[in-house]
Amino acid sequence: MNDTPKTYFIKTFGCQMNVYDSQRMQDTLAAQGYAAADGPDNADLILLNTCHIREKAAEKVYSEVGRLRKLQASRRAAGADMRIAVAGCVAQAEGEEIISRAPAVDLVLGPQSYHRLPSLLARVAAGEKVVETEFPVEDKFAALPAATDRQVRARGATAFLTVQEGCDKFCTFCVVPYTRGAEFSRPAGEIVAEARRLAASGVREITLLGQNVNAYHGEGPDGREWNLARLLRELAGIEGVARLRYTTSHPCDMDDDLIAAHGEMPELMPYLHLPVQSGSDRILAVMNRRHTRDLYLDLVARIRAACPHIALSSDFIVGFPGESDADFAQTMDLVEQVGFAQAFSFKYSARPGTPAATMPDQVPEPLQAERLAALQALLRRQQADFGESLVGRRFVVLFEREGRKPGQLVGRSPYLQPVVVDAPAALMGTLARVEVTAAGPNSLLATLPPGATGDAMARAAQHPALAG
Ligand code: SAH
Ligand code: SF4
Ligand code: F3S
Repeated sequence: MNDTPKTYFIKTFGCQMNVYDSQRMQDTLAAQGYAAADGPDNADLILLNTCHIREKAAEKVYSEVGRLRKLQASRRAAGADMRIAVAGCVAQAEGEEIISRAPAVDLVLGPQSYHRLPSLLARVAAGEKVVETEFPVEDKFAALPAATDRQVRARGATAFLTVQEGCDKFCTFCVVPYTRGAEFSRPAGEIVAEARRLAASGVREITLLGQNVNAYHGEGPDGREWNLARLLRELAGIEGVARLRYTTSHPCDMDDDLIAAHGEMPELMPYLHLPVQSGSDRILAVMNRRHTRDLYLDLVARIRAACPHIALSSDFIVGFPGESDADFAQTMDLVEQVGFAQAFSFKYSARPGTPAATMPDQVPEPLQAERLAALQALLRRQQADFGESLVGRRFVVLFEREGRKPGQLVGRSPYLQPVVVDAPAALMGTLARVEVTAAGPNSLLATLPPGATGDAMARAAQHPALAG
């Protein structure tokens, strides 16, 4: 070992929980004396944080490792070294198989073992090939080191915070219950402490994460079980926290308390990602979604009654095994009825080991592609209509990055759209009230009305209903 700091490079695939996990691994490596490399070429450790949700996820990881292997060989030829680690959901799903197929990989670690990274890396340094895909009993989150003030500030004014992990729902198409394990809620006190640290380091918006975030039921500091609404109310009281979001929710876990919170809490942004997957009861049943089309529509009506201006988003799968033209028509009809501000839609992809993978009547790819195109055209139109409906409106944005052109900042609307504004750089990381002047397909343009830049005023006017 020499004295120069070891360097690492993390490449993250998949969902926001992987983004959060990668940050926690960065914090862990920093605490071990590692420094961030600016690219894979000069890193002593490369960590791929992988996703297994759709398509040839594992194949992509193998081809990525294939490219890294060449880099590893040239670094070794130059007298340096490079270790390759594979983390995330492909690591959990494939385990040992990764090292037998890709011997360049030194470490395979599943999502529940990230707090063991230092001891695992020590074993790798001693020349061992290590595979860790257990589901340990200890609280991983409590065992991971906290981010330092500098690390949080470097990540900006918006932050992710995982509050719940894993899933017990077992939708027949989905790998998550196998890769992330059983549903687990972090204790509320731990989450509140983490949120306080984030806020103290300049974070203004926190997005609570979980595969089933609205199933949250952690132990509160009062010894009682807290639901997500209770947790959100607590977090809203933290000095500096101006905006709260949460994702992803399951329709069956959308309780009355949480619906009421959307009508009552100005800090809770009026945006809800609520995956429905299909509009056909027959397909929803085979998917084991545990809800019907009517339950979803009724839920949407109740949420809109509590918070009339809420923007809804969803996930859809087309071409699930056995999906007929009539089933697909039901999905299109549901989309027409609800009107989504934004949505993600995918062709069904058979995942090894899930029940749907071996169901009869797999839908041929060309038909899947045709249905996806029709659905996406409708969703795009709804998204554009929603954007158009905001032109002329005023609301508060939180500036989180620089725009493409000099003098521009980009913030998020309450409805999560990027909003591009000509604004002084000093407003980065602050809230400001803006007026929307135009809507593009994926973002809005807005201006800063003269004199309307005060962060405190903006906070008071945060709720679009109050923003005029
Ligand atoms: N926990 C969330 C979503 C998890 S995965 C929920 O319950 O909705 C994110 C999205 O990926 C899912 O909503 C689904 O639309 C999509 N997805 C999951 N498995 C898939 C598969 N096998 N094929 C295609 N899309 C899939
Ligand atoms: Fe997957 Fe269904 Fe669980 Fe969502 S609820 S993570 S889609 S099994
Ligand atoms: Fe992918 Fe795992 Fe997230 S499969 S979507 S990284 S939970």
